[in-house]
Amino acid sequence: MLQQQISEAVACIREKFTEQPSVGLILGSGLGMLADEITNPVKISYDSIPNFPESTVEGHAGQLVLGELNGLTVIAMQGRFHYYEGYGLDVVTFPVRVMKALGVETLLVTNAAGGVNTSFIPGDLMLITDHINNTAQNPLIGPNNPALGVRFPDMSTAYDRNLQAIARDVAADLQLNLKEGVYVWNTGPTYETPAEIKMLQAIGGDAVGMSTVPEVIVARHAGMDVLGISCISNMAAGILDQPLNHEEVIETTEKVRESFLALVKAVLERIGAQ
Ligand code: HPA
Repeated sequence: MLQQQISEAVACIREKFTEQPSVGLILGSGLGMLADEITNPVKISYDSIPNFPESTVEGHAGQLVLGELNGLTVIAMQGRFHYYEGYGLDVVTFPVRVMKALGVETLLVTNAAGGVNTSFIPGDLMLITDHINNTAQNPLIGPNNPALGVRFPDMSTAYDRNLQAIARDVAADLQLNLKEGVYVWNTGPTYETPAEIKMLQAIGGDAVGMSTVPEVIVARHAGMDVLGISCISNMAAGILDQPLNHEEVIETTEKVRESFLALVKAVLERIGAQ
């Protein structure tokens, strides 16, 4: 059933783009401009792909962009699906299954996140070294299809060490102060309370957001290597004495545009040279 749905989406994409992408990019809130750097782009809106839903959140374009980026053939999601929009996690993670079926082996996930670690400031970029699923949800709940992955996937290196090393190296070359830490997934759509943020600090979280973890779980199930980068768009609730809003999140991502683009493009170049 799921395999049938994947095949239908793959057939539609291959009709429009015949090369095989090796790297997949999921671009979070305000970070979709990376897809505008793709050369000879083929753009496919989500609503024209079988079994893809429509994306509803502000700041997301809602299309796949396929083409060349720094020497690699890539497939980018300009906008992703979130659990808080009301989609099931099977829907949220469907594009990752499709990327795998198209031949993608490396997945680069990005997001805007609240800073939980008080040494961070808005505008920092954070290499995701690990995550905490704080939701009691999991996209793999249900019967397992062994053709897609194992029943009990290992998550001890959810974020690939080699890719992390590349990101650190590249950041040093660019003289970019790349922070590191643990990303916590909450479902949203509410931002957290100050008490919840204290709890996340206590359990080892450095940043918090409403995405990424479902896609990473499915990517690991599918055997893909993952690199994750968060843009710290605001300090999480209670750290500063000010309310949070989505506009602030988008404004900050616009400010880090240059360093974010430089980091990701240099990482891709290094992956291509391996
Ligand atoms: N909390 C949850 N998700 C977020 C935040 C936050 O503070 N900022 C951006 N996404």
